[in-house]
Amino acid sequence: MAVLISGTGTNLQALLDQLHSPGGPIEIVGVASSRSDAMGLRRAEAAGVESAVFPQADYEDRGARDQALGDWLDSLGIELVVLAGFMELLTSEFIGRFRDRVINVHPSLLPAFPGLRAIERAVEAGVEETGVTVHFVDEGIDTGPIVLQQAVELSYPADIAEIEQRVHGVEHSLLPRAVRMIAAKQVHDE
Ligand code: GRF
Repeated sequence: MAVLISGTGTNLQALLDQLHSPGGPIEIVGVASSRSDAMGLRRAEAAGVESAVFPQADYEDRGARDQALGDWLDSLGIELVVLAGFMELLTSEFIGRFRDRVINVHPSLLPAFPGLRAIERAVEAGVEETGVTVHFVDEGIDTGPIVLQQAVELSYPADIAEIEQRVHGVEHSLLPRAVRMIAAKQVHDE
């Protein structure tokens, strides 16, 4: 599989630590970043995983960027693409090219709070629980079929930093679990 990132890459690290085995049944063969300064690129390098950067500014438009990204992924022979903090929208052409082979981790119980600032918006709304969702990516924003979800309880007054820490902790176990299930063909997209 390949992992797409834009930043810190703690989810990438969880996948490297819990699943990655070079030449084994689950192997991360490439890490692509939208930013050259993403800390996750250093995690890939430390693990000996090939990486590449696809900054939007280097391409005429998103379509050209996604074409180059898709060609790179195909050259690696990947079977699954994991969006782990990849902060850019992908074109419908890209989604069609890798139909049912792209998953994303999102910090809310979708369909609640899709999009940016999901944790803060859940707290602002005063909900009693939020959580984490791993889902297949379709043409919408955080709308595809759900693979796994796990709730995180909230109490008020809320400490955002503490909630973020708990949500990220859940991500780091839920995402590897979802990948393992997909690899074991225990997930069927309807
Ligand atoms: C995570 O909260 C993920 O849910 C969201 O972006 C964040 C990425 O964090 N899509 P990291 O780069 O994996 O540390």
